[in-house]
Amino acid sequence: MNNHFAELGDVWKHLPLAEILRITPPRDYWETHAGSASYALTESPSRLHGALRFLSCAPRDPDLRGCAYLQALRSSPGVYPGSPALAMQTLGNTASYLFCDLDPESAATLRAATAGFEARVIETDGVSAIYRAAQLARVDPKDVLVHIDPFDPYERVTDQNKTPVELAAWLARAGYRLFYWYGYDCVERRGWAHDEISRLAPGINVWCGDTLMPACLVYPGTTGAWGCGVVLANVTRSEAYACERLGRALERISETDAVENNDPSQLTFRVIT
Ligand SMILES: C[S@@+](CC[C@H](N)C(=O)[O-])C[C@H]1O[C@@H](n2cnc3c(N)ncnc32)[C@H](O)[C@@H]1O
Repeated sequence: MNNHFAELGDVWKHLPLAEILRITPPRDYWETHAGSASYALTESPSRLHGALRFLSCAPRDPDLRGCAYLQALRSSPGVYPGSPALAMQTLGNTASYLFCDLDPESAATLRAATAGFEARVIETDGVSAIYRAAQLARVDPKDVLVHIDPFDPYERVTDQNKTPVELAAWLARAGYRLFYWYGYDCVERRGWAHDEISRLAPGINVWCGDTLMPACLVYPGTTGAWGCGVVLANVTRSEAYACERLGRALERISETDAVENNDPSQLTFRVIT
């Protein structure tokens, strides 16, 4: 069971994810590391800087008040939708779902939440399961949004398997719509996943939006920097533009959540090119 949810790293994952699902609803939604369907939205220091703060500030921001993520949060008070619930809330029965997670408890919540949906829950390594599904090629890649939210971006389960980053690049090259989330804990790594996926998928149009913030907003008691970002491939210009506006708006509402004597002192958003 994942205990890190509704934190700033989830805000800068589910905010663009919900928007993309709304702008271009895919016929298939696949996820390598799905986690639980949803979580009880109890208070914690990192949630007070994350989704709980977003819920109170976003309605006053012109670019956030109508966003799909805020709508999803408001439609289920007291519950934090993980990415599987967010996808199912947005797409309903218009899409098919493939959710992978190694954790039996998470998989059980996914089975319960997907009852009545056209969905498969696979309790195995998500990177190899999604690679297999993509190779079967029973779908048109442009109709599939693949969400890769890896625990370890460089994990290679066996010598024959790809790492999550390699899978992301392979899917991007094969024409799948890609949503890849990454984290990092030193400023020199800002935008690293953009650089690696672009290198492994040359010529593919890749967009990356990155947020750098005081580490203590996510890990109370720590100092210095922490950051995360999303890498998108095979998305439209309007989707990329919508995500950029959301990133800038998140930076705007974060101005009043500054940490004195820390570098960085507040969250900043950057499009990585
Ligand atoms: C951070 S949670 C996922 C959150 C979810 N994607 C969301 O956005 O709401 C990470 C999950 O990855 C699962 N996990 C770790 N390694 C995995 C692997 N190799 N394959 C599938 N799931 C894995 C863990 O059990 C955990 O539930």
